[in-house]
Amino acid sequence: MVEIATSLLSLEKEDIVQDIYNLEVAGTNYFHIDVMDGKFVKRDTTEIMRKYTETIKQITSIPIDVHLMVKDVEAYSKAYIDMEVKNITFHIESCKNETEILKHISNIKENNIQVGLSLKPQTPLETIYPYLPYIHRVLVMSVEPGEGGQQFIPETIEKIRELNKFAYENNYDINIEVDGGMNEKTAKEVIEVGANMIVAGSYIIHSQNYKEAIESLKK
Ligand code: DX5
Ligand code: ZN
Repeated sequence: MVEIATSLLSLEKEDIVQDIYNLEVAGTNYFHIDVMDGKFVKRDTTEIMRKYTETIKQITSIPIDVHLMVKDVEAYSKAYIDMEVKNITFHIESCKNETEILKHISNIKENNIQVGLSLKPQTPLETIYPYLPYIHRVLVMSVEPGEGGQQFIPETIEKIRELNKFAYENNYDINIEVDGGMNEKTAKEVIEVGANMIVAGSYIIHSQNYKEAIESLKK
């Protein structure tokens, strides 16, 4: 089954109550929260994403999928653990070494929250292989992290195909989530090679009809 996580980064407004309701009715499986610290990437969305998360928790039970694009994984993980989200994904590029990565993974899991590892387009796939037995999902970035509305990088398709093959051969039960430049065409391409979770921001938010947009991504 393919699930859709709607990224709220392109909403760019304070009052999102009506949008959250409309996206719930339209059938989004998750809300994808893009947390940026102004260090790992240029933008800083710390405050707005905290507010979005609090609003979502107040008005719906749709699960929250947090994507940390931050240097201080420990501090930001703690903030989102306290907000009782469903999943926290952090970047392998934020971490110094294996010990640190494993510490973040167990810290998140101890709080009954699912954990994901993300990698940027230039980061070799093999760097995440040692952690696959311990995590729930890999978030494959198909654009450079930092902004919504960018173009899908086509090399991502081979990366996902290879990850899916490696996970299958080693019996790792992981979800493959793809983030950046997703639309009807690119989603189909990544689903065909093994992705089962699609993050889409601008394609859904700027569409005329949320339901049709979400359904078109699952096909
Ligand atoms: C990029 C973010 C994405 C982004 C997706 O740094 O991680 O989640 O907002 O936006 P679209 O779907 O517009 O590429
Ligand atoms: Zn994201």
